[in-house]
Amino acid sequence: MYPIKKTPGDHAWFTHDRFGMFIHFGLYALPARHEWIKTREEIADEDYQKYFDHFDPDLLDAKAWAKSAKAAGMKYAVITTKHHEGFCLWDTQYTDYKVTNTPYGKDIIREVADAFRAEGLKVGFYYSLIDWHHPDFPVDILHPDRNRPEKVAENPSRDMKKYAKYMRDQITELLTNYGDIDILWFDFSYTDEHNKKKFKYLPGLKGKGKDDWEAEELIATARALRPGILIDNRTQIEQDIYTPEQVQVSRWMTHPETGEKVVWEACQTFSGSWGYYRDETSWKTPEMLLELLIQSVANGGNLLMNVGPTARGCFDHRAEEALRVYGDWMKVNGRSIYGCTMADPEFIAPAGNYYTQSADGKRLYLHLFKYPYKSLILPGLAGKVQYAQFLHDASEIQYSEECPYFYQRFKGESVAELSEAPLFLTIPEHRPEIRVPVIEFILK
Ligand code: GLC
Repeated sequence: MYPIKKTPGDHAWFTHDRFGMFIHFGLYALPARHEWIKTREEIADEDYQKYFDHFDPDLLDAKAWAKSAKAAGMKYAVITTKHHEGFCLWDTQYTDYKVTNTPYGKDIIREVADAFRAEGLKVGFYYSLIDWHHPDFPVDILHPDRNRPEKVAENPSRDMKKYAKYMRDQITELLTNYGDIDILWFDFSYTDEHNKKKFKYLPGLKGKGKDDWEAEELIATARALRPGILIDNRTQIEQDIYTPEQVQVSRWMTHPETGEKVVWEACQTFSGSWGYYRDETSWKTPEMLLELLIQSVANGGNLLMNVGPTARGCFDHRAEEALRVYGDWMKVNGRSIYGCTMADPEFIAPAGNYYTQSADGKRLYLHLFKYPYKSLILPGLAGKVQYAQFLHDASEIQYSEECPYFYQRFKGESVAELSEAPLFLTIPEHRPEIRVPVIEFILK
């Protein structure tokens, strides 16, 4: 329906599946107060070591994680293999700072990749370009040691080229030893602009970008191993996926130069943190959760919704409840999400509601966040619809192309003149018992 800017990878499955689970897991689950805890509290390596020494998510059941994601209607998952703290969740040969050297002792990435693939979900790896543990990663404006002169003084001896090679070696491991990997999610490049008013740091420190990462080579390394893999844009080199974060995207994202529509995926958290944050209370309501998904697809994008497991390896009850909201709704309404995209521009949804349309153009879906009293006028639909029903129970929705009598009692122009070829729907006075009712239109 809509031409999308060509991408190096194969995005067809991605723009069909629409909905994925992000998993942020690492040592930061133990302090349980945000995945940036090490730098927010400027914790020195030796003081952060206790989390490594006590890392033992003994209740971790990757199969249960995969079943929860599948039951929520998610079709792919992206898990942190290494976050900014530098701790590796797989048995890497390039550092001792890895899960197999902790009390837990097992390769979590192996467990997760196998379990999610066994449930039929595609598997993506998040890999942090930032590394606050690696000895060759120079202290910079976001680093936990940014205010320690003795640590900043080590920078000349820290070899960023060695660190860039370390990243290529680890990406090679991850894309070679863990089966078919469908997404590579790098995170992230930053200039002083990014950090504005975020952290104080010693003079002379900078951010890092594509030249520091040797991003061309890093991407080439990944593509040589998995040519069709989808890669995000956070190395500062545009690849397959644009990645707006913690924002509700209200239009189809376009290429900054060409204006072409691009493949994009909004990533969001259930609460205000990616990693498990015990005392964080800003958990989104069920309607907000559903609107993030529906609005993304209504604007031609995907949603990657994040879970931060606890240090015992479980999704906490608040995350499980949020996943159930998705699962209950997707069970009967998934058809308005999978294989759907932004509706034809001639179809304008009533304020506060969203259309999606099947990529083949044959089915149109109206998502009713605002449920009106008994009737709906839908511009542009007259002559276009062969049948209409509630999606959740396939019960018929009656409609007419004639302006119903009760509209004609108003003084002044008839409603029909108010908009182009409207369709007049009669809907039940009693709102159906489902969070966001969806009307499915089978188009002529
Ligand atoms: C931001 C956060 C990082 C998180 C990422 C997810 O970069 O700083 O912690 O992993 O968003 O998109």
